[in-house]
Amino acid sequence: MNNQPQDESFVTIFDDTYDQPDCRAYFRMLDALGYRNQMHAVALFRKGLGALCRVRGLAAPRLLDFASSYGLVTLLMRHEISLIDVFDRYRAPDFDRMSPAEVIAGDRTWLARLPCYSPPLHVIGLDVMPNAIAYGHAVGLFDEGFAENLEVDAASPALAAALGQVDMIVECGSVAQLMPRTLDRVLTACGERKPWIMTSPIRGNERAAAVEVLVRHGMRQEVLPVAPFIHRRFESPEEQARAIANARAAGHAPEGYETTGHFHAQVLLARPEGEGGAPGEWPELRGLVPLS
Ligand SMILES: C[S@@+](CC[C@H](N)C(=O)[O-])C[C@H]1O[C@@H](n2cnc3c(N)ncnc32)[C@H](O)[C@@H]1O
Repeated sequence: MNNQPQDESFVTIFDDTYDQPDCRAYFRMLDALGYRNQMHAVALFRKGLGALCRVRGLAAPRLLDFASSYGLVTLLMRHEISLIDVFDRYRAPDFDRMSPAEVIAGDRTWLARLPCYSPPLHVIGLDVMPNAIAYGHAVGLFDEGFAENLEVDAASPALAAALGQVDMIVECGSVAQLMPRTLDRVLTACGERKPWIMTSPIRGNERAAAVEVLVRHGMRQEVLPVAPFIHRRFESPEEQARAIANARAAGHAPEGYETTGHFHAQVLLARPEGEGGAPGEWPELRGLVPLS
């Protein structure tokens, strides 16, 4: 698939599960590979969302789940459930026998019964994969869903209108870092009132080009002052060696992180220059393991 960041990223891409009619293959792939990024990152996204709501006085924030795939980030942002429990659901052999329509109907019912966090969210899903977006919308994760490729075209009028109201953008993955043109088009469509952006790229996937885009839009990016966390385990010694080299090249010390056998990630926060104070002083982050 040529719209993946394969050329610039050193992560092995597992993309044949990205455009199935339902989430089963994708979630099982994440489970089999030991993904943990979404679990750690969303806990921090929720803290950032709390800070944003406090600073801007928001009661029902609007979120963009950027490069959303089937909406796993939205699921964890909206609902009181752990990543492991989500993975566990799709391990059940019953899922092998179900049609996509049955999975979608079952997931819709399951999600409707899951307890929700407060505040209530309005979520827009954006991904290049039409099936993934259609699934997220059909099961009720996305209030609005858009299958558009902003590497190729500017946002459609409908997407631009939705982006114009967004308060926060969240992304687990590295698309915002690796595709600065897409990031630029998203921020252009957001208009004057810029959202906060929280992303969780693996260490070494941070890009100066993304920072330049943010600065052009009047935003400043920083690493949230919280210790790095596991993204997923390495698939091979070669993948680990590349990750260690890339982490080091980006200025990270891999000892105790990538050397332990896992990709590590951090949360990056970008927001309008000067808005919201130092994250290290937020009440929302009190008690978390600090960045050393
Ligand atoms: C590693 S997956 C992460 C999906 C999701 N954020 C999650 O944590 O489960 C990367 C996603 O980026 C999407 N993607 C790739 N290029 C994109 C682009 N230009 N715009 C939006 N999404 C894109 C892929 O289709 C895929 O769903």
